Amino acid sequence: MTILVTGGAGFIGANFVLDWLADGDEPVVNLDKLTYAGNLHNLDSLAGDARHVFVQGDIGDRGLLDALLAEHQPRAVLNFAAESHVDRSIHGPEDFIQTNVVGTFRLLEAVRQYWGALAAADKAAFRLLHVSTDEVYGTLAPDAPAFSESHGYEPNSPYSASKAASDHLVRAWHHTYGLPVLTTNCSNNYGPYHFPEKLIPLVIVNALAGKPLPIYGDGRQIRDWLYVRDHCSAIRRVLQAGQVGQTYNVGGWNEQANIDIVRLICRLLDELRPRADGQSYALQITHVQDRPGHDRRYAIDARKIERELGWRPAETFETGIRKTVQWYLEHPEWVANVQSGAYRDWIAQQYAD
Ligand code: NAD
Ligand code: DAU
Repeated sequence: MTILVTGGAGFIGANFVLDWLADGDEPVVNLDKLTYAGNLHNLDSLAGDARHVFVQGDIGDRGLLDALLAEHQPRAVLNFAAESHVDRSIHGPEDFIQTNVVGTFRLLEAVRQYWGALAAADKAAFRLLHVSTDEVYGTLAPDAPAFSESHGYEPNSPYSASKAASDHLVRAWHHTYGLPVLTTNCSNNYGPYHFPEKLIPLVIVNALAGKPLPIYGDGRQIRDWLYVRDHCSAIRRVLQAGQVGQTYNVGGWNEQANIDIVRLICRLLDELRPRADGQSYALQITHVQDRPGHDRRYAIDARKIERELGWRPAETFETGIRKTVQWYLEHPEWVANVQSGAYRDWIAQQYAD
């Protein structure tokens, strides 16, 4: 038995692969293009481990997909691979369409051909799990109920529109061809190996470097934060017991305004790594120009996955964010490694003012 994971060198994919192999011995074939967001150092602890087969390549490469499926005969494919940063999708949407839409289409077609030729028992057991986001549902008014699985799709950014398109393709490949798919729509993740272009790791590394902590607009935008290893456990549970063709919303029951998140990180750093001048890191908070089309609020109603599959997050936000800040304090070499020339170019462009 083997699983094929795409995007397993990125933030969530790497956490998933590490947890999967810590939890059992079923091998993982890990297909990742190694874009700026892919980092083999996330998987350093698997060096020499024969259960992990890494392949550098693109989910849009049909020939490669056919060859990998034929060689490794996976019982499941989990699709994490994506362009994932909203701000980058605003500056340059093309890559998002290529990977998130065209790439998912090519993956679906390769998997459909592979699955169609399996023996009856293997065919019945096979699953394609597509990892998606709550951003496909659009934005919520302050008092509106959280997103359930039946909420309409109203994506607002090039990123979320590309993810919504991929979800629709996955749904259609089940409806039309009977492909045994599962989809998860998760809220904002945080934790180890989070690339420091995203809010939480950016604030931690900027604070330690004495740089401004950029808050878009008034900072009252709300996100529903989930510790990444809880997301990974939800995906394992959906793979194990999810009903084919269904979608499952995954979230942390943890709505927080951005400014409150940033102030909390500052308090944790004040405690764990005080500034040399004894002042609070909160002095570095700087309000900057807002993100165009910025969604005001996301919140996930995760009752379906709890009711049907018995999943709940293990971490509270207080335990998860403390672990996360400590992880960044203990891994300065990882941070230095990802802050390459290309990373510096992005930060300079995005925060030019
Ligand atoms: P990430 O940007 O950290 O990692 C993406 C990975 O995919 C990288 O390793 C990259 O090299 C790889 N990749 C990109 N294009 C590829 C291609 N064409 N072929 C093969 N590999 C490719 O993203 P992440 O935060 O780990 O997100 C993983 C998935 O989870 C994405 O599908 C994202 O939409 C979804 N998601 C993310 C969050 C979040 O808060 N980060 C929340 C919900 C859902
Ligand atoms: O909701 C799930 C989504 O969460 C995932 O699908 C995306 O892949 C992931 O990137 C994340 O999207 P967000 O746009 O919510 O995450 P980000 O960390 O970029 O921003 C979080 C919030 O913080 C958002 O309201 C924008 C704000 N922000 C972000 C940055 C980078 C700032 O105020 N300042 C910043 O510098």
